Amino acid sequence: MSLQSYSAKDLFDFLTNQDDMLVLDVRNEDDFNRFNVEGPFPFDMVNVPYFDFMEEEDASIQKVSREKPVKVVCAKEGSAQYVGEILVKNGFKDVAYLSGGIKTWGNLLAPKRINPSSDSYSLFQFIRPGKASCNYGLLYEGEMIIFDPSRNFEFYETFASSQNAKIVITFETHLQADYISGSKQIANETGADIFAHEGDFKDATFKYSTINDGEIYTIGENGPEIKVLHSPGHTPGSTSYIIDDKYLISGDTVFIQSVGRPDLGGKAKEWSATLFDTITNKVLNLDHGLNVLPGHYMDWSEANDHLVFSEKLEKILDLNEAVYELDSSEKFTEFILDNMRDSPKVYDEIRKVNSGWMDVDMNEADIMDLGKNECAATMSNAVKD
Ligand SMILES: [Fe+2]
Repeated sequence: MSLQSYSAKDLFDFLTNQDDMLVLDVRNEDDFNRFNVEGPFPFDMVNVPYFDFMEEEDASIQKVSREKPVKVVCAKEGSAQYVGEILVKNGFKDVAYLSGGIKTWGNLLAPKRINPSSDSYSLFQFIRPGKASCNYGLLYEGEMIIFDPSRNFEFYETFASSQNAKIVITFETHLQADYISGSKQIANETGADIFAHEGDFKDATFKYSTINDGEIYTIGENGPEIKVLHSPGHTPGSTSYIIDDKYLISGDTVFIQSVGRPDLGGKAKEWSATLFDTITNKVLNLDHGLNVLPGHYMDWSEANDHLVFSEKLEKILDLNEAVYELDSSEKFTEFILDNMRDSPKVYDEIRKVNSGWMDVDMNEADIMDLGKNECAATMSNAVKD
């Protein structure tokens, strides 16, 4: 069979369907170790850099199993195609390369319906497997609100029209440091309004409407309520949203594993104390039956049986006892400082882009935006220990 191609969406389907396959990543070792394909179930993956295929073709081919269909991944597309051709020439039966390269995987969004179909509104989680992050869409009678959109405008546009809806508002949970927000582009292209908290966006160069703790918004005339909960700590303007008194879109404040790290702004002590205050006086006072919809996850083990990242607050408080049982601001700060690790350098630049202070073209944005988030205060094991 000749060399085939597949898309990032196909790859997500292969992974969720547990197709028998081998992912052959031909990027260099550093790039592979920094960021590689992850899925909800175990699968075979091997890293053999394409320059190895150029220098030692036979030895490199030996490293690739002939037992399974081979899905080749590279940075841009060309080297996966090049390696794919070598494999086909050497008798491999089923070989395909990722069209558009790894960045298309990095930008992919997979929609999952969250609430029952009997509700008058629909709430979707848009999982971004390449970033280990989630953003959300709320739809009611032809209108759509997006929480924390990424810059995959094409996806939102297609999704909204498939639901016969118009994007009317984007809500930001905070000034993101780990990915480029899509709000500005959505506002420019659709006329949607951006809502965000001044605590993070006061210096933003673009137009937005300010949100405040305790405010209530609605979608449509009789749609579900959206309650604003200012939940600072990860950033000063961090905000969570309670939808229909059932769902808590928690941004980077409450995760299923861990909490959002308060050290990314270079003020670890100050922001830790703020986060402790938010947890003690706000999060713990919420209805523990709320379904938390986080902005990030650590890995797929946090997903439920429907491959959705959602967990009752009650369960989260249990899972993360090590964090939530800390009963003083000092102990909490010490815990944060003990678990602190370097923040990726590119985060400063992403913040500037998200405030409107820096413009980047598509290629630069693709490079800045690639890779898994590092927004949680602890690695998952640290929480369990
Ligand atoms: Fe964040």
